[in-house]
Amino acid sequence: PVFALSFGVYCALIVSILIGAPKANTSQPNVNEGGSVYLCPWSQGQSNCSVVHFDNEGDRRFHVNDVDVQVEFKSHQWFGATVRSHGNTVLACAPRYYWRTEHDAPFSDVTGTCYLSVDNLKTFVEYAPCRTGSHQSGGFSCLFQDGKIVLGGPGSFYWQGQLILATTKEIVKAYYPSYFLLSVTGQIQTHQVQGSYDDSYLGEHGPLLHRLAATDINNDGMEDLVVGAPMFMQRGSDGLRWEEVGRVYVYLQRRPLLFEPRLPHLGGTQAFGRFGSSLAPLGDLNQDGFNDIAIGCPFGGDDQQGLVLIYNGHASGLMDMPTQTLAGQWASGTFPASFGYALRGNKDLDHNGYPDLIVGAFGVDKAVLYRARPIVNASASLMLQPTMINPEEKSCTVSNGNETISVSCVNLSFCLSANGKHLPADLGFVVEVQLDHLKQTQKESSVRRTLFLDSQQPSLLKTITMANGGRTCHDTRIYLRSEGEFRDKLSPIYVTLNFSLDPLASLDHHGLRPILKYQTTHLIEQKAQIQLDCGEDNICVPDLKLAVYGDRTEVYLGDDNSLTLTFNARNEGEGGAYEAELYMVLPPEADYSGIARNNQSLTQLTCSYEAENQTRSLVCDLGNPMKSAPIPLEIMFHYHVLLGMSTASFYYFVLCPTVVSRPDKLLFPPPNWRMSHSLQEEQDIGSEIQHVYELVNNGPSMISQSVLELRCPLRAQGHDLLYPVEIITQGPLNCSSNHTLNALKLKVGNTLARTHVHMHRCMQAHTHTRTHLAYKQYVLECSAQYRVKNMPYAIAPKLKPSGSTKILTPVMWNKPESQYIVPLWIIILAILAGLLLLALLIYVLYKMGFFKRSNPYGTAMEKAQLKPQASSEA
Ligand SMILES: *[C@@H]1O[C@H](CO)[C@@H](O)[C@H](O)[C@H]1NC(C)=O
Ligand SMILES: *[C@@H]1O[C@H](CO)[C@@H](O)[C@H](O)[C@H]1NC(C)=O
Ligand SMILES: *[C@@H]1O[C@H](CO)[C@@H](O)[C@H](O)[C@H]1NC(C)=O
Ligand SMILES: *[C@@H]1O[C@H](CO)[C@@H](O)[C@H](O)[C@H]1NC(C)=O
Ligand SMILES: *[C@@H]1O[C@H](CO)[C@@H](O)[C@H](O)[C@H]1NC(C)=O
Ligand SMILES: *[C@@H]1O[C@H](CO)[C@@H](O)[C@H](O)[C@H]1NC(C)=O
Ligand SMILES: *[C@@H]1O[C@H](CO)[C@@H](O)[C@H](O)[C@H]1NC(C)=O
Ligand SMILES: *[C@@H]1O[C@H](CO)[C@@H](O)[C@H](O)[C@H]1NC(C)=O
Ligand SMILES: *[C@@H]1O[C@H](CO)[C@@H](O)[C@H](O)[C@H]1NC(C)=O
Repeated sequence: PVFALSFGVYCALIVSILIGAPKANTSQPNVNEGGSVYLCPWSQGQSNCSVVHFDNEGDRRFHVNDVDVQVEFKSHQWFGATVRSHGNTVLACAPRYYWRTEHDAPFSDVTGTCYLSVDNLKTFVEYAPCRTGSHQSGGFSCLFQDGKIVLGGPGSFYWQGQLILATTKEIVKAYYPSYFLLSVTGQIQTHQVQGSYDDSYLGEHGPLLHRLAATDINNDGMEDLVVGAPMFMQRGSDGLRWEEVGRVYVYLQRRPLLFEPRLPHLGGTQAFGRFGSSLAPLGDLNQDGFNDIAIGCPFGGDDQQGLVLIYNGHASGLMDMPTQTLAGQWASGTFPASFGYALRGNKDLDHNGYPDLIVGAFGVDKAVLYRARPIVNASASLMLQPTMINPEEKSCTVSNGNETISVSCVNLSFCLSANGKHLPADLGFVVEVQLDHLKQTQKESSVRRTLFLDSQQPSLLKTITMANGGRTCHDTRIYLRSEGEFRDKLSPIYVTLNFSLDPLASLDHHGLRPILKYQTTHLIEQKAQIQLDCGEDNICVPDLKLAVYGDRTEVYLGDDNSLTLTFNARNEGEGGAYEAELYMVLPPEADYSGIARNNQSLTQLTCSYEAENQTRSLVCDLGNPMKSAPIPLEIMFHYHVLLGMSTASFYYFVLCPTVVSRPDKLLFPPPNWRMSHSLQEEQDIGSEIQHVYELVNNGPSMISQSVLELRCPLRAQGHDLLYPVEIITQGPLNCSSNHTLNALKLKVGNTLARTHVHMHRCMQAHTHTRTHLAYKQYVLECSAQYRVKNMPYAIAPKLKPSGSTKILTPVMWNKPESQYIVPLWIIILAILAGLLLLALLIYVLYKMGFFKRSNPYGTAMEKAQLKPQASSEA
């Protein structure tokens, strides 16, 4: 089976391919499936390949203390899994070659080994740098670079990987047949680096399948390394299972042999796709100065037949996403094609100046040659001159068959330039220019406002043939259609140009069709604006005003009423108002009967009446642009009952919420109130307070739904304050309360008698509340919030009216002392007791000789007066 491929040039003209067959049986004695490398002349296909005899020996043995020990194991060593060639030099490696490090050790290490030929496959030397006296994990990939060999040992140093570098010259010099441990002069190897690089190959369980490629990706003059870890595992999308998706690491060489990982790493997307099984530097495939690389994913693709992904290099590494994906095309057989198991690139096999790629498909014993197509570096430019179209300046003419009309026009020119390496002499392009293209896609019905002058078409398709390295320009003119044919003068007119290579152009002399560079800008866009009547900056700031008068103020139900409304529309802003319309939604009661045409100035206006579903509307064109002169408009209606009228731009409302509290202050306790232990009637609980809320729409716009929300405190200072009794409504109202009304089921007085007192036009709500506690200083504060929710118009105003109001009701203390009546007998008894006490006191003082003192009288009386008072208080 095809496993690894390499190119080598042996004569000036004949190209040969080296094909590694790592599972092939060989003539080596006692070695099973040792692996071979075949040489296949390119000119004769792969049918006449011959084996290259790098190593004819079987497993070698060693004599230590008369004991004969087998020290190496070549069976299943996968010789030919890596084959590299450069000039006359060929290197082929066996990554699964085992070496018994210590003769008495029961186990052996996978150290790998390589064979090198520097003289066109005439003589061969062995090079096995990992075969040392101490334990080593080898298994490696190899590279050629300027007479040096770079070996990658990914298993070394806890999977950080190791690079070994030696010159081919020194390897050949150091070689001595039958010596196992050789020291190569000048051989350098990377040493263990700091811990952060550990686990670079985390989750990787197939070290032997590591692939290594070196190429200068970022064009800094130093070879960078690309390492494939096809069995890399990561958590699947469910976060639980581990998925083997594969990964490719990119290490940029910053200083000689100092490699820095480029993040993020490239990750495979398909479980078991083996992304990174093979890598091939492609050279500069797209001729952008940066080398590109192919990554094989031999079990990728929907059919698991294998994919090859092409990644482009750039200044900071490899692109994150592939720019091209190659898929093998085989009938799905019992075992997978493994397209992309081996890759080799960076050789221009067909001599068209672009490096080609060979993809090996392990499962179907095939190698496919992909020839790189030449890349065209093309760019286009588009210019409109001038970019402001003045409709007044009609300098061009168009003929529509019968007559010639003057139109406004602008110059349109576009240029195309193309260059590239190894291209055919003539390049064919198709250029497409679309005028006012966006307008067409936005609205199917809208017309394209500009056309090409010569074709009177909105698009132009042109085939251009030009020389490689040339530049071609094309000048034409476009014109603005006459004013009546379109309405939108405000939005810009976009002109777009896109181009592609002409699919019908002839092939190059290698039989290949060139392609446009990957990053080519295919689409360019320019815009033109129609000159408006809006001053220097061409920006209009209209300010529309409307006044409405009716010819009567009263209507009668049931009558065949007719009403004429006079609208007076004005534009008080700067410049014209484009596409100005008066939009009117008719209420169900009104029927449109026409525009009054008694005044000459009114006849210029056109109005259209539309009835769709339940909505009937009238749209009148106020001009495009609407000038500053007032536009009077008289519209006649027949109606049954006229409720309101509005226009899209001119909603106007007067919403006035009013609240009345009855009474406007509250006395507590109410006169003649007695604390009752069994609450039965509403009077038992306290004073009555009624709030009347009224929301009036004074029009003229109609409201189909609005909400009034009331809030009153039911408790104050830790005590119950209000007891909501009922909500009395009048008119089409739906009220709800999240507090139970009349929770004690008290008998409520005659509500009908009360409500007919308050008649309101729109809606009203009575909140009938009673207090049963009183506070010396308290203000009852209720709030009412209203919002308009819906309006019966197709175009509702952005800001719907809303607002709030408060109602304050002072609650006052009603002189509590006067309420305490002291029975008469208690007063008489108290007076009698007081007199008795006074008589007793006088008697005592008399006995003590108090009244005999000279002039002490006033003071004694004061004391006498004070004493009884103090005692009565006590
Ligand atoms: C195959 O190659 C050998 C030399 O490797 C040559 O002698 C022989 O003629 C070739 N056969 C064909 C059919 O080309
Ligand atoms: C592509 O062409 C432009 C000029 O048209 C040139 O400036 C640019 O360098 C070219 N790019 C490549 C990659 O050749
Ligand atoms: C040319 O004139 C004839 C008669 O006036 C009219 O029917 C026809 O539509 C006109 N054609 C165009 C393209 O305007
Ligand atoms: C448009 O092109 C014509 C020649 O095709 C030229 O005379 C004229 O000056 C150009 N107009 C502008 C505004 O560039
Ligand atoms: C231009 O773009 C449109 C839409 O993507 C495409 O259909 C058309 O083929 C393109 N034209 C050219 C000349 O590439
Ligand atoms: C026409 O209407 C304008 C504006 O309302 C008014 O000034 C003018 O007198 C009217 N003319 C007639 C003939 O009614
Ligand atoms: C009219 O009714 C149809 C079907 O019920 C609906 O699809 C359409 O949107 C309505 N049009 C308007 C302006 O409401
Ligand atoms: C009030 O609500 C009821 C039920 O939700 C509904 O049937 C009735 O039409 C509504 N009345 C008004 C005037 O919205
Ligand atoms: C009553 O409704 C208002 C507003 O929805 C809410 O803030 C309040 O908590 C509600 N009260 C009760 C007792 O559910």
